[in-house]
Amino acid sequence: MLSAAATTDAPQDTGADTIVIGLFEGQGISHDVEDGALQALVDSGEARPGLRKLAVTHALGKRYLLAGLGKRDEFHTERARLAAASVVARAKELGTRKLCWELPHHVDDAIAGALVEGTLLAAYEFTAYKSKAADGPRLEQVAISAHHDVSDAVHRAHVMAGAANRARDLQNGPANDVTPTRLAERARELAAEHDTVSVETMGRAEIEAAGMGAFAAVARGSIEEPQLITLRYTPAEASAPVLGLVGKAVTFDSGGISIKTRARMAEMKFDMSGGAVVLEAVGAIAELGLPVPVVAVIGATENLPSDRSFKPSDIVRAKDGTTIEIIDTDAEGRLVLADCLLHAREQGAERLVDLATLTGAIISALGSVHAGLFGADDAWCDAVTAAGRTSGELVWRMPLHHEYAKSLEGRYADIVNVVEGRKAASIVAAEFLRRFAGDVPWAHVDICGTAWNTGRPYAGKGGSGFGVRLLVELATMAPWTSTSPTTTS
Ligand code: BES
Ligand code: ZN
Ligand code: ZN
Repeated sequence: MLSAAATTDAPQDTGADTIVIGLFEGQGISHDVEDGALQALVDSGEARPGLRKLAVTHALGKRYLLAGLGKRDEFHTERARLAAASVVARAKELGTRKLCWELPHHVDDAIAGALVEGTLLAAYEFTAYKSKAADGPRLEQVAISAHHDVSDAVHRAHVMAGAANRARDLQNGPANDVTPTRLAERARELAAEHDTVSVETMGRAEIEAAGMGAFAAVARGSIEEPQLITLRYTPAEASAPVLGLVGKAVTFDSGGISIKTRARMAEMKFDMSGGAVVLEAVGAIAELGLPVPVVAVIGATENLPSDRSFKPSDIVRAKDGTTIEIIDTDAEGRLVLADCLLHAREQGAERLVDLATLTGAIISALGSVHAGLFGADDAWCDAVTAAGRTSGELVWRMPLHHEYAKSLEGRYADIVNVVEGRKAASIVAAEFLRRFAGDVPWAHVDICGTAWNTGRPYAGKGGSGFGVRLLVELATMAPWTSTSPTTTS
């Protein structure tokens, strides 16, 4: 990945071949070159201040990109990411190697971070499986030049975007390589990289022996070894409750016996996005040394049809003894997560957030702009919402209600895994999970619509890494305000 640096040197003195100057509506150029060459471009109307507008010129032996930022009072971190993404697209065409943004005057340091994030995320390419490398120069470095030291913001952004891009590598990798075993290996790599991170993994026999019958049922149909991955981050000094992160990592979801149709089934390699994001978020939290203890649980398995598969009408037993009648084997995520949530609680989680590509219905509800947020604890949901706003990874809270929970009551077992008619599918799925979170403040983030192909200029096609920045931001906000009693009954 490209490097990112903060500097108080003037852009021309940073060794950059391309310098980016932001342009606000109705405002001039702060530091011009060669007798007003940049301002002349503005005056002629070639450089326009509208967000994402770009103009190029040459001066002092360098390329200058004038990047429209819109109105100053409407400018915020997300706009900075979008502007940075436009610049990357043009910089690629221009053959830029070293890019330097001049930080606009009088903006928050968070803007410096957002410019770095937008640049690193937009510059991401997944080429691991291409036989021939693309030729021509490549973007190698982005620097942010400011009058004061913005290195903290730049470092944080570099860590967060780096982790998001690594999550995208896992997401984009094919299901025959990104198996549960590969995810467990990635967890071990993270533990090897950080003294503060440790890992434990359980395979099929251990998952079954531990009584995790819901998780085990999903894994039965595939010869691929499932993995229950527990990553633990123990900071030198902890000043917050133990943050429990839970991720769904179904490395391929065919639907199982309730098989999906062929259209777009290939996209179901992305059904491990929650797990990938949780893994890399732990890496980023450790890299930043945040004072928040974390226990992360990733449930990794395939969901395939075979003569060993679990079937509609089977009754399985989760680790807490809850019996679940399987109505539809394609509602497998909640089964995996049920045992993972129970495990996270057993491992000491005092707050819970799960990330999962759980229901297609959340795409109909919220598209790719917001992920669905579910939880009964207002203060905890507010914390997740605030982390979403700060990080630009937006979540929108959806309701829970005991009537949805009631619809899960079973005829043959305690509960069913799918309700007839599939009304309110995303909420019902969340109510299913809620049973396994117990009294621990819990938030469920349904990322089906935001995990891949979001159409965001800096995420584009393929895995988006959605959730890494959200989770790191949530950990940064610790110790969080005290949690409030349940308001949804
Ligand atoms: N992995 C899918 C959810 C999904 C669907 C993600 C489409 C991305 C795009 C999940 O396991 C699933 O199949 N959910 C079912 C639930 C239903 C059976 C209640 C769904 O959404 O159709
Ligand atoms: Zn499914
Ligand atoms: Zn699934």
